[in-house]
Amino acid sequence: MKITVVGTGYVGLVSGTCFAEFGVNVVCVDKDREKIKKLKKGIIPIFEPGLEELVKKNIKEKRLFFQTNLSESLNGSEAVFIAVGTPSRRGDGHADLSYVYAAAKEIAKNLKNYAVIVNKSTVPIGTGKEVHKIIEEINPQLEFDVASNPEFLREGSAINDFMRPDRVVIGSENQRAQNILKELYRPLYLLETPILFTKRETAELIKYAANSFLATKIAFINEISDLCEKVGANVSDVSIGIGLDGRIGKKFLHPGPGYGGSCFPKDTLALVKTAQDYKSPLKLIEQVVDSNKKRKRSMYRRILKAIPKDNSNKIISILGLTFKPNTDDMRDSPSLDIIPSLVKSNCKLRVFDPEGMLEAKKNFLKYDSKITWCKNAYEASENSDALVILTEWNQFRALDLNKLKKLMKRQIIIDLRNIYNPREIKENGFEYHSIGRSI
Ligand code: UGA
Repeated sequence: MKITVVGTGYVGLVSGTCFAEFGVNVVCVDKDREKIKKLKKGIIPIFEPGLEELVKKNIKEKRLFFQTNLSESLNGSEAVFIAVGTPSRRGDGHADLSYVYAAAKEIAKNLKNYAVIVNKSTVPIGTGKEVHKIIEEINPQLEFDVASNPEFLREGSAINDFMRPDRVVIGSENQRAQNILKELYRPLYLLETPILFTKRETAELIKYAANSFLATKIAFINEISDLCEKVGANVSDVSIGIGLDGRIGKKFLHPGPGYGGSCFPKDTLALVKTAQDYKSPLKLIEQVVDSNKKRKRSMYRRILKAIPKDNSNKIISILGLTFKPNTDDMRDSPSLDIIPSLVKSNCKLRVFDPEGMLEAKKNFLKYDSKITWCKNAYEASENSDALVILTEWNQFRALDLNKLKKLMKRQIIIDLRNIYNPREIKENGFEYHSIGRSI
């Protein structure tokens, strides 16, 4: 089988490469010539564990191709995936669909034979219908279907999520389209992966509902962690205690500085707007959005509160800048709120992130004179008043505490991801602050 994937961003590149690994012939198309030139050589623009190797392997085995010409790529393709960006539109929080519609128009102009056009980008409910209308208007002779096939890929473990998913959701009630997509996902039948066929609108909503539910779990445990601090309870045990109930589940109950990334903040907001438009407001998700925003904004106060107040300018070490480990993605990262607020409070920062430094530098240009970019965690801790763990990279989980103690001016650790055992850190002579654990 041959397919085309339009858009070589995160979703398009991972999906295209994984389909190639399944044995399908995949052409990934992007207008960005420079990007395509690099991709052809196996140079990938994002950091995602395992992706570069898989891209190179499938290029070599001649199943994965990159090009800028959509028309050529469509020749013989049975499925055309739209995997372009849907950023939050400025001003109103709605998903910006201009790239999706532009892709639909291009496909309509160039497609000659039947294909199922599949929306993989996260799109508001009703977009599939709109894409269908656009294609029909431009190319009325064309035989085609439009399906929704949302992605559930986490950055940092996207390949595993694609190859071993909990489920695949296919929004199409058309038999021909279903058969093509069934064939594409056939390798997953061996793993007995549930494949759920739904109405197109249902599939579109499943994506937003899943992300909003996960965001709700995080906001919930973050608020519970605040209460734990007040009443002297331990949030880690609360997470285990409730998570062991099969109806609740133990995942996504880790408190932290607030969720970030390119999905949860954008998708919760988009769902809230859709619900408002349909006059069926989702008050609960509105609260989640608000709770998370406030949490990110308030984190710097927690850091400042942990450091003794004297007149000197504080030096604070920051470990981790990306919104989660194993990515270089800075989008909506809590560090984007915390770092400017600390700088405005007259702190000097020594920062380190294993993969995100390049991206982070672009975001903090304005604050560069107050930031020292370090090569590792130890360099970042030199002479500092407090060390803040902002992202739970594995590299930070077993730091040499003796070495840290000698390097730091004040032995204060503020662990916003609860990666250390409070007792152990205290026994090593540190003052330790974490989330929702009062010991
Ligand atoms: C998320 C979903 O998990 C994917 O299923 C979905 O496909 C993807 O969005 C998307 O819509 O494309 P991702 O944003 O890559 O994936 O990362 P997550 O692992 O879900 O983490 C999101 C944020 O929540 C991070 O800031 C993370 O630190 C935070 N988080 C996560 C917590 O604070 N606590 C937790 O227990 C879990």
